[in-house]
Amino acid sequence: MAKQEDDFKRVISHAKEYGYVFQSSEIYDGLSAVYDYAQNGAELKKNIREYWWRAMVQLNDNIVGLDAAIFMHPTTWKASGHVDAFNDPLIDNKDSKKRYRADVLVEDYVAKIENKIEKEVAKAAKRFGDSFDKKQFLATNQRVLEYQEKAGTILKRLGKSLENEDLADVKKLIEELEIACPMSGSKNWTDVKQFNLMFGTKLGASAESAMDLYLRPETAQGIFVNFLNVQKTSRMKIPFGIAQIGKAFRNEIVARQFIFRMREFEQMEMQFFIKPGTQKEWYEKWKENRMKWHLSLGLGEDNYRFHDHEKLAHYADAAADIEFRFPFGFKELEGIHSRTDFDLSKHQEFSGKKLQYFDTEENKNYVPYVVETSIGLDRMFLAIFSNSLKEEALENGTTRTVLKIPAVLAPTKAAVFPLVKKDGLPELAQEIVDDLKWDFNVLYDQKDAVGRRYRRQDANGTPFCITVDHQSLEDKTVTIRHRDTMEQQRVAIADVKAIIHNEVDMKSWLAKMN
Ligand code: GAP
Repeated sequence: MAKQEDDFKRVISHAKEYGYVFQSSEIYDGLSAVYDYAQNGAELKKNIREYWWRAMVQLNDNIVGLDAAIFMHPTTWKASGHVDAFNDPLIDNKDSKKRYRADVLVEDYVAKIENKIEKEVAKAAKRFGDSFDKKQFLATNQRVLEYQEKAGTILKRLGKSLENEDLADVKKLIEELEIACPMSGSKNWTDVKQFNLMFGTKLGASAESAMDLYLRPETAQGIFVNFLNVQKTSRMKIPFGIAQIGKAFRNEIVARQFIFRMREFEQMEMQFFIKPGTQKEWYEKWKENRMKWHLSLGLGEDNYRFHDHEKLAHYADAAADIEFRFPFGFKELEGIHSRTDFDLSKHQEFSGKKLQYFDTEENKNYVPYVVETSIGLDRMFLAIFSNSLKEEALENGTTRTVLKIPAVLAPTKAAVFPLVKKDGLPELAQEIVDDLKWDFNVLYDQKDAVGRRYRRQDANGTPFCITVDHQSLEDKTVTIRHRDTMEQQRVAIADVKAIIHNEVDMKSWLAKMN
């Protein structure tokens, strides 16, 4: 646990030191669970957005984009069920006066059991070496099976109690598991109560005429209320999807773990409208498709897993999370939900306007069903950033800090260095920058020894460093150094663009999804 905490602290401080993520309003001591993305963070975020948008909108003939407003008519949230049911179960510790999400306390307890399983796996892998079969070990080892059963039983009970709104049982579970307040160690808990997560605000010039609004807690509703407008103007036929990227806001109580759980965050959501009765098939297809998208980035298959929900949200008939191995354990990265016709039917009911589709093959009208994929952009950022940060021991006995961000997403694709600040080398390096910048984000750096410049760019996540030396003036060649292998090649200046392009081209990365 201490190692996990240290690793996570390293991630947070690296994100700050290298211009990725800053605490919001830091000069005023910050605002809890609100963050700003700095020069490198903004680029990484932009690249993740594009990677998602291209995979969703550009590569699917039957998915179109949307950019709906954050403010929506307040009845939207009544219809969607958020006013009545978008709650978190909260519990206070009477001694420390700290407030927690009751379900998170239980889930953290289960995460500790899962950590024990991981430890057993690691021990066995070491013991058996190459002959180790992880699947078989997980299915047969007595201790692991006991841990799995314990974790499963706890989660099942939590799911059932939350589904039945049996908050007294959630408290009982916390007491039975003897969960203590992480701050004080005390087990003196209040009852569990529900707390609505939406932020309210007002629209209008005077207090009397102002209208109560909410900041949207998910982008999905902007898609639902525009469903018919988009369908008619795009002449889409079912099945088709609408994709959107935008800000969402939630008054998270347990706002911790850096950009994992924020109060203002960004979602990348897609609602896929389908014929009723086909939801199971589409739900499975989208689970598979989304996992392929993740795996195309090469962060390692072992770092992902599906978690099927026991407790379903008020709108879903099936739901699963894609979980990622964050520095603090496996946690939700993306949700795939079969939302039935809940949202469209509710908007139809509350607005009095028909939200139906005329199916020419069936010759009838119906309210479509929806399968949704929903991923937090900030969580995806954290998954990539934390997974990429490595401390590597080098052959010469030193270590290097390197940020092995997939080259396609790296904020800066190449840094160009003159070996020395004279003899015409800076001019030639600048010429190379001026040529490359039309295609990629590149930077020029002439400060410090070349070795230090390499280290700086390793830590920055830059996949290529190009060094201009005296030979470059004679034969128009440079050295190109690869971040991950530290390998250096002598190449013609004329070939540099193609070499970089080959590694960072979105097309070839996305093609790995097929
Ligand atoms: N429209 C469905 C929906 O909003 P959700 O599971 O509540 O479902 C979807 O959220 C995704 O949004 C999550 O998987 C997560 O990646 C991201 N997300 C949710 N709350 C977040 C928060 N407070 N901070 C950062 N990301 C969040």
